[in-house]
Amino acid sequence: MVPRLGVNVDHIATIRQARRGMEPDPVAAVVLAELGGADVITIHLREDRRHIQERDLRVLRETVQSSLNLEAAITGEILEMVRTHRPNYVTFVPEKREELTTEGGLDILRHRDSVKAAIDFCHELGIPVSLFIDPDLAQVDACAELGADAVELHTGTYADAPTKARMEHELGVLKRASAESVARGLHLHCGHGLNYLNVTSVAAIAHMEELNIGHSIVSRALLIGMRQAVSEMKSLIVAAHAARHLP
Ligand code: PXP
Repeated sequence: MVPRLGVNVDHIATIRQARRGMEPDPVAAVVLAELGGADVITIHLREDRRHIQERDLRVLRETVQSSLNLEAAITGEILEMVRTHRPNYVTFVPEKREELTTEGGLDILRHRDSVKAAIDFCHELGIPVSLFIDPDLAQVDACAELGADAVELHTGTYADAPTKARMEHELGVLKRASAESVARGLHLHCGHGLNYLNVTSVAAIAHMEELNIGHSIVSRALLIGMRQAVSEMKSLIVAAHAARHLP
């Protein structure tokens, strides 16, 4: 099975929120991402609403043609959002206000009761649950015991490895946790820090079903789109100059 590509469009909303205006609209980016082959659209509705807003969740719920994966922390407010907007599935992540991005996986062993309650809540609504965890065998086992449908293994340590040897080591860690996940009947997802240079080894892990990637895709989209965006603006200015009415 070819792993699904989940495209995380949070950073499109980050740029919009820099001016708190209308553009760029993540909804428009999602249409283009789907035309490019995105199998899943992933958004993280953070408690501090620094990028994705509830409006984005509401509109995307109506416009996403592929599958909408809502990433969120386990809070009463978020569970109500899940009830209202019914994403195709939910990925629970840890969240700290001061972090730049999600740092580390959810500690299932520590938060067993709240995770179990959140899984049961979603299952009653018929919504599958993925848990974002570090590639640790005990965490994987806890996810299976609590009845999660999938795990998303955190690839950040692999992606940030300072040397090739360290990266190989972290790939081995990911492979062992992947095998354990599959053995425990969990669907296997991975994500965080994946880019055009490091994705291949992770995509090739046996039984990989989904990769969630945001920062590197949005960064590349900015660069490959820059030339055309400038050229279009230049054309407008040149055309305005040509059409000006001289006194
Ligand atoms: N998966 C999860 C659970 C995340 O929290 C994030 C970041 O929002 C990603 C994947 C995407 O990570 P990146 O932006 O580094 O590709």
